[in-house]
Amino acid sequence: MVAPSLPLEWDDALALGDENIDRQHKRLVEIINELHSHLDAPDRDALVMKCLTAMYLHAKEHFFDEEAYMDRVGYPEKERHAELHRNFVQRTNALTDTCLLDAMPCEELLNFLVNWFREHVAGEDAKIIAYARNQGAR
Ligand SMILES: [Fe+2]
Ligand SMILES: [Fe+2]
Repeated sequence: MVAPSLPLEWDDALALGDENIDRQHKRLVEIINELHSHLDAPDRDALVMKCLTAMYLHAKEHFFDEEAYMDRVGYPEKERHAELHRNFVQRTNALTDTCLLDAMPCEELLNFLVNWFREHVAGEDAKIIAYARNQGAR
């Protein structure tokens, strides 16, 4: 896993061209950066929990909307993509527990989130939008 440079900058190259999905992706970047800014705080655990709760709720809403979008455009790999979303939620929950038990530095959790964001959005989410464009669905 490559150590990311933080804070994470929103890059317009990550914009997929769907207003709602792009807005939600920007919010994911903000939450990751909030988490980063809290790592050295004295009340780190409480702040980390707050950020991760925000991440969990936002990711749930975002995944719901993105999966509905895949249905609308008839994306053929929707099930595989939805499985990636479920894996992300499970992995984030497990890493959060490990991190809060002090069994792992929170930097590792942060690295996971940043790498996931870059790979998933630029790699997997981009395929959905490219498919929709090719179909003339949007
Ligand atoms: Fe996705
Ligand atoms: Fe997404």
